[in-house]
Amino acid sequence: MMKKIVLFWVTLLFTGYLFAQTPNNEEKKAFIDDLLSKMTIKEKVGQLRLVSVGGNLTLDKVLDQIEAGEIGGIFNTVVEPDLTYMQDRALKAPNKIPLFLGFDIIHGHRTVFPINLGIAATWDRDAIAKAAEVSADEATSDGLNITWAPMVDITRDPRWGRVSEGFGEDPYLTSEAGRIFVERMQKQVLSDKKSLVTTVKHFALYGAVEAGREYNTTDMSERKMFQEYLVPYKKAIDAGSRAVMVSLVSINGIPATGNHWLLTEVLRNQWHFDGVVISDHGAIRELINHGVASDAKDAVKVAIKAGIDISMNDEYFLKFLPELVNEGVLTEDQINDACRHVLELKYDMGLFNDPHRNLDPKLDIETMFADNRLHREEARDVARRSIVLLKNKDHLLPLAKNKKIAVIGPLADSKRDILGSWSGAGRANLAVTPLEGIKKAVKNPNLVSYAFGANLSDDPQLFKFLNLYEITTKYDERPADKMIAEAVKVAKKSDVVVAFIGEAEGMAHESSSRTDLSLQASQKRLIKALKATGKPLVLALMNGRPLTLPEEYQQADAMLETWFLGTEGGNAIADVLFGDYNPSGKLPMSFPMNVGQIPVYYSYLNTGRPHGTENMGKYTTSYFDSPNEPLFPFGFGLSYTDFTIDFSLSSNEMTPDGQIVVTANVENTGDKAGTETVQLYLQDVTASVSRPVKELVGFENINLKPHEKGEVKFVIKPEMLKFWNDKMQYVSEPGKFNVYVGSDSTTKDKQTFTLLDK
Ligand code: BGC
Repeated sequence: MMKKIVLFWVTLLFTGYLFAQTPNNEEKKAFIDDLLSKMTIKEKVGQLRLVSVGGNLTLDKVLDQIEAGEIGGIFNTVVEPDLTYMQDRALKAPNKIPLFLGFDIIHGHRTVFPINLGIAATWDRDAIAKAAEVSADEATSDGLNITWAPMVDITRDPRWGRVSEGFGEDPYLTSEAGRIFVERMQKQVLSDKKSLVTTVKHFALYGAVEAGREYNTTDMSERKMFQEYLVPYKKAIDAGSRAVMVSLVSINGIPATGNHWLLTEVLRNQWHFDGVVISDHGAIRELINHGVASDAKDAVKVAIKAGIDISMNDEYFLKFLPELVNEGVLTEDQINDACRHVLELKYDMGLFNDPHRNLDPKLDIETMFADNRLHREEARDVARRSIVLLKNKDHLLPLAKNKKIAVIGPLADSKRDILGSWSGAGRANLAVTPLEGIKKAVKNPNLVSYAFGANLSDDPQLFKFLNLYEITTKYDERPADKMIAEAVKVAKKSDVVVAFIGEAEGMAHESSSRTDLSLQASQKRLIKALKATGKPLVLALMNGRPLTLPEEYQQADAMLETWFLGTEGGNAIADVLFGDYNPSGKLPMSFPMNVGQIPVYYSYLNTGRPHGTENMGKYTTSYFDSPNEPLFPFGFGLSYTDFTIDFSLSSNEMTPDGQIVVTANVENTGDKAGTETVQLYLQDVTASVSRPVKELVGFENINLKPHEKGEVKFVIKPEMLKFWNDKMQYVSEPGKFNVYVGSDSTTKDKQTFTLLDK
C-alpha cells in the first residue's frame, strides 16, 4: 500500500514537472509568429541551412554568414571554443536566433562504444540505454544540441558497408534499440541541459539498396515497407524524435529527397510528425543526377515541395529559394512552414532562453580530450556484452590466466580500427587494443607474445581506398612469408593462439560496399599457417558486417565476434577471453554461408514448396550448390554455460481484447553463472496474405547462477498480432498462431493458440 502511495505522488510530481517544463503552445505560437513577421525571406531561408566548416567555407566565412542570419545550424565541428564564437555571432544577427550545433554521435562521442551492430548484439535494453545516455551526456557537455542518430535502417545485405551503423535485420530489435536511443538521448524535456535532439535516419529504406551497392536504388512493395522496413522509423518518431534525416536513395523510382508521398503523405499526414525534416549531405543537388530535376534551382523546388525543411551542406537554398518565391514558383508560406518547424524546435529546446547552454569557451583542447572525461567503465561493460561466442570446441574458452598466449594478426594491436567508423570525436590514442587488454589481464605480461602476422590484404588498391583521406590502415612492407614465419614461431612457443582478423574499420563504413565477404587471401594464409602449428586456435573477428566464414569456422577451435568494440574494446575482449565475463551477445544479423544466399534472413515468407518438405523430390525452394540456411542464424550466440528453455501458454485461445501470458522456464544446466536472452517469436499460420515463418516480438535477459532455475514472462497482446492485410489495412485476423520461444531464431519449440473472432 505504502509503495502505491509513494508511486502515486512520484507520478503526480513528475507529471507536474513535465507540465511546468512543457512550453505553453499559445505563448510559443505568439513568439514564433512575431519572430517570423520580423524576418526577411533571406533570414527565413538562413534557418533552413545546415553548414559545416570546410572547403571554400572557411571558419571566417561561416562566422560572417551566421552574423548575417544566413545559417541556421552548424554541424561536424566539435571544438567547443569555435561553437561558442559561432553562437555569439548568431546572437549578433538581426533576429538573434541561436544555432543548432550538430554532430554525428553514432556509437559514442568522446568515449566510443561498440559499433551499433555490436550494441544491438547485446540484446540488452540497459546496455543500449547506457551507450545512448553516456553519448548524449558527453555530447551535451561539449555544447552540442542535436545529433544525426539513431540510424535505424533495416539491413539484410551485408555487402552494404553501413550495416555497421544500424541495429541489424529485424524490425523489432531495431525498433527497440532506436526507441531507447531517442528516449535516452533526447529526454522528455527538450530544454533539459542533458538533452540532445535526435534525428532518426535515413528515412527511408537506405538499408535495402539493390545488390548492397552504396547509394543504389531501392525497390520494394508497400506491404513490405509498412510491415517491416518503415517500422523502426515510425517507432523512433512515436518515441518523440524531433528530427528526421532523409535517405539518399530512390524509393520505387522517386528519390527520397524529392518524394512527396514519403515526406508529406506518410511522414506528416499519416504519422503526424511535427519536427524538422533534414536532407542528407548534398542530397538536393543530387536530384539532378537522379534525373528528377533539370538544374540546381529545379532541385531546390522539388525538395521543398516534397517536404524537406533543412538542407545539409547544399549552397543552393540560399541562392535559389528567395528567387523562387519572388518568381511565384513557391509561396512565402511554403518557406514559412519549413522555417516554423525549425523555430518551434529551437523554442522547445529552450535555445532562445539559453543559447549558450553547456558552452564553455575556457575549455581548452587538451582538457576537452582528457582521459578523465571518458566513461571507460560504461564502455567496457557495453563492449563485453556485445561480444558473441560463435564456437567453443571442448570448452577451450575461457583461457587460464597463466597460459602462454600468442596474440597475432593485423587487428590485434590497432588502436584506430577498434574504434570503428563514425567515431569522429573519439581519439585512437585513448583506445585499448586487444593486445593491451590481454597483457593487462594476465598474471604475467611476459607470457603474452605478439606478431603482426599478415597485412589485412595483399591488394594495394584496397589500401589506397582505405587511406585516401588519412592513413588509417597500416601496411607492413615486409615480405608476406617472413611475417607468417614470425607468427608461426610465436605460435609454436605458446599454449594457445588468439588471432585477430577481419576488416579494417574503413571497410565497414559509408561508401564501403563489398561483393566478396570472405577474408582476404593474406589473412586466410595466416590462419592456415597458424592452424598447421597444431596449437589451439581462437579466431577473434573484428568486422562491421557479417562475413562469409565457413572455412574459418572449421579451422577455429573457438570463435568470437567482437565487431569494433570502441575505446575499451581490448579490455572487454580480455574479460571474455579469460571468463571474467561470460559471453551473452547474440547476432542481430544472419551470417551467410556465401554471398549467393544474400539476402538471407530468418523472417522469410514460406513458399508453396518449402525447403525440407518430404516427398517432393528436388522441386523445393533451395540451391543445388548451397544450403538455404546461413552459417550463423539471427539471434545466435553461445555461453560458457548451457541453458535449457521450455515454455507454456496461459491459454490456447485469445479473444480480440484478451491476452496470453507466455511463461518460459529457464535452467542454467552448467557450472558457470551466465546470462541467457530468451527470444519470443510468433507466426500467423493462415491469413489473407502470406506471413513470415517467424517474427521476433519479444526478448528478455535472465541471469542465472550455476544450476539455478528461473522464469521469464511475456504477454502476447492483440496489437502484436496485427499486420497489413490484403487490402493494406492494419488488422489482426482470427485463426491459428504458432508461438516459439528459444535461445535463437532456429528454435523449433512450438505452442499454438487461436485468436477468436469475438
Ligand atoms: C551521411 C549521414 C551523416 C551526414 C553528416 C552523410 O554522408 O549519409 O548519415 O549524418 O553525412 O555527417
